[in-house]
Amino acid sequence: MKIGIIGSGNMGRSLGILWAEQGHQVFFGARTAEKGKAVAEFAKLGTQGGSNDEAAMFGDVLLYSVRGVNPEDVFTSTEVLTGKTLIDPNNFEIPEDFKYQPIIKSLAEKLAEEVPNASVVKAFNTIPMEVFELAPEPLKEHNVSVFIAADNLEAKQVVVQLVQDIGFNPIDSGNLRNARLIEGLADLERFLIIHQQMGGYAVPSINFLPAAQIQRLGGRQASNLK
Ligand SMILES: NC(=O)c1ccc[n+]([C@@H]2O[C@H](COP(=O)([O-])OP(=O)(O)OC[C@H]3O[C@@H](n4cnc5c(N)ncnc54)[C@H](OP(=O)(O)O)[C@@H]3O)[C@@H](O)[C@H]2O)c1
Repeated sequence: MKIGIIGSGNMGRSLGILWAEQGHQVFFGARTAEKGKAVAEFAKLGTQGGSNDEAAMFGDVLLYSVRGVNPEDVFTSTEVLTGKTLIDPNNFEIPEDFKYQPIIKSLAEKLAEEVPNASVVKAFNTIPMEVFELAPEPLKEHNVSVFIAADNLEAKQVVVQLVQDIGFNPIDSGNLRNARLIEGLADLERFLIIHQQMGGYAVPSINFLPAAQIQRLGGRQASNLK
């Protein structure tokens, strides 16, 4: 797959290297071509680097690791995004004292409004970059979930594959509106990691369990609650 990295900071560099290790063609983009090239030089693995415009032109799939900046201000023209899958790994800025506001509209939905010509897919925002250092091994042993929300099913499927390629367990989390829930989960994780300092890196592992053979607790009774 041809992948363009938009913004080659911690998330962009880490995911770009992991995908290149799996044989994908990766182009690191940055605000200056020099930085993009420097990251490609660091990554090696046949990667290329340059401007964000060049990365967007190169990739069929793009990682948009630029928080809260309208693509209009990142690219010379957003026409370059037409028909592309745009992965959004972004989270809100951590507010003072971790007093998060309820999420009325997710960053991913806002991005999708800004670039209706692209297919936005929420993914990877619940994974601290330090966890990428463990991928794909020994990460695979830990069944780490990556929640994926998108309206375009084809684009979602492409991201499911990219998630699996690097050792994570993709969880189809429905349409893009559900990015609100996924971004909220990342807020909780960052509270646990940074504020509570629970040690290590809190990541979600969703398990799907079979029903018990015998319901000795009485089972789920009829209820008026929705
Ligand atoms: N780090 C984590 O553990 C982690 C985990 C989950 C989600 N996230 C989320 O992922 C996103 C990126 O985080 P990060 O850790 O990669 O941050 P970072 O290392 O600070 O990188 C930020 C990137 O944004 C780009 N950027 C900043 N301002 C810009 C502007 N005005 N125009 C264009 N590009 C701009 C930078 O571009 P240049 O390359 O040109 O300098 C850089 O590549 C954030 O939303 C963050 O919440 C981070």
